[in-house]
Amino acid sequence: MSLTSRSVVTVDDLSNEEIAAVFSLADEFAQDVRAWNHVCRGIVIASLFYEPSTRTRLSFEAAVHRLGGDAVTSVDISASSLSKGETLADTARIIGSYVDLIVIRHPWEGAARVFADYAGVPVINAGDGGHEHPTQTLCDLYTLRKERGGIAGLKIAICGDLKHGRTVHSLAYALARFDAQILLYPAPGLGLPDYASSKMTTEYRGIFQPVNGEDLPGISRALGPDWVLDAIYVTPSKPNQPALFPGAQLNLNVVLSSWGQFSVDALYMTRLQKERLAPDDVGGKRYLVVDKDLMRGKEFKRTLVMHPLPRVDELSRELDTDPRSMYFRQAANGVPVRMALLALVAGRRGAGLALASPEPEAREAYCSNLGLRCNNDRCVTAHETSLASRFLVVGHDPVRLRCVFCEHEDAPALVGSAASRLARPASKAAVRRIKAENRVYFMSAEQAEQRQFRLHGAD
Ligand code: CP
Repeated sequence: MSLTSRSVVTVDDLSNEEIAAVFSLADEFAQDVRAWNHVCRGIVIASLFYEPSTRTRLSFEAAVHRLGGDAVTSVDISASSLSKGETLADTARIIGSYVDLIVIRHPWEGAARVFADYAGVPVINAGDGGHEHPTQTLCDLYTLRKERGGIAGLKIAICGDLKHGRTVHSLAYALARFDAQILLYPAPGLGLPDYASSKMTTEYRGIFQPVNGEDLPGISRALGPDWVLDAIYVTPSKPNQPALFPGAQLNLNVVLSSWGQFSVDALYMTRLQKERLAPDDVGGKRYLVVDKDLMRGKEFKRTLVMHPLPRVDELSRELDTDPRSMYFRQAANGVPVRMALLALVAGRRGAGLALASPEPEAREAYCSNLGLRCNNDRCVTAHETSLASRFLVVGHDPVRLRCVFCEHEDAPALVGSAASRLARPASKAAVRRIKAENRVYFMSAEQAEQRQFRLHGAD
């Protein structure tokens, strides 16, 4: 299958082979970005940025112009008819009838998925709230591959605001898929959200191994007491075979010795996402700073310093001329990488490539407006209540549902039958006998009763 006409909403919309094809084409384009202005002649993209952006918007627009195409832009939500109450679905349909491809950034998690469902043209997610930012990950992986020759086996420390940072969510999934190992150093209280950790262990069959300062004395000494090591994520690749069996006891010494005395290939720093902090977020009080002093340690001799940018105070400007600093290169790589993605999705390159695509989703789906709604107040379904809730059933014992839009997970308390209007505790074996198309999930008995469902045994 080729990438032609496909949407890229999450990094999982691209297989590893497809990502490799993007990189090969980016290598070709990068030789001289001025030499390709015939590739997308006649193509018009919509560049919709309803959150601030410098790199992503301008590199997408530069990319389409470099390829000989055009871009129409909308960057102010208050100047669009969304501010009059038009739904995302209607907006997507309209814009999709004007252009060949849509690039969208939006503050609501899952907004790009809604666009992809309704636009009728391919949609590329340029960041949807704190959920994902797949094309930033392409720039990050491309940079790592160029600097290190590949990604498998690399040891990457991801630091900062891992809770709200969409770039690190996409990056963590992709690194896991490419068999890298990940060391998580969140700022206090800002670790990976549960749904992202859950996806890493279920979809990628890896495991998180909690570690403490004594386990990795070199790194802990270098980073100092404010850096609380959270966990190592181990991919299922050799030599960490126990990771093939989630839940199995892992020999921590084996993992730690595989990290050597201290051998982090890249330190990926991220800023505190102030715009997404909730009032009860404790994070941000003690934040980490990557500076010359830190990077002076012999442990960091070969460590690449990466950052999706923009930076605030967490990455010292004194490192800008250091040869290990990759962040400006990551941003510059955005043009050839996005040129390659646009050319492939627009069908102007690679139409004949027979690439393995992501496996179609084999999980049971649940779609209803009757019962459970996603509990994430940043989810697009929390803002557009006309959208039917859609979930994938990702666990049965206990039942776990993952929102198709924002990927947050819920464990419903009750399962009802739309045929009998009877609801039972989700733990009861009898709920398995309810036909999938009749199942309605509820978070509480109160919610079921509000929807006129009787509770089993209540009469
Ligand atoms: N890395 C990134 O997404 O930068 P912008 O917000 O400037 O697009």
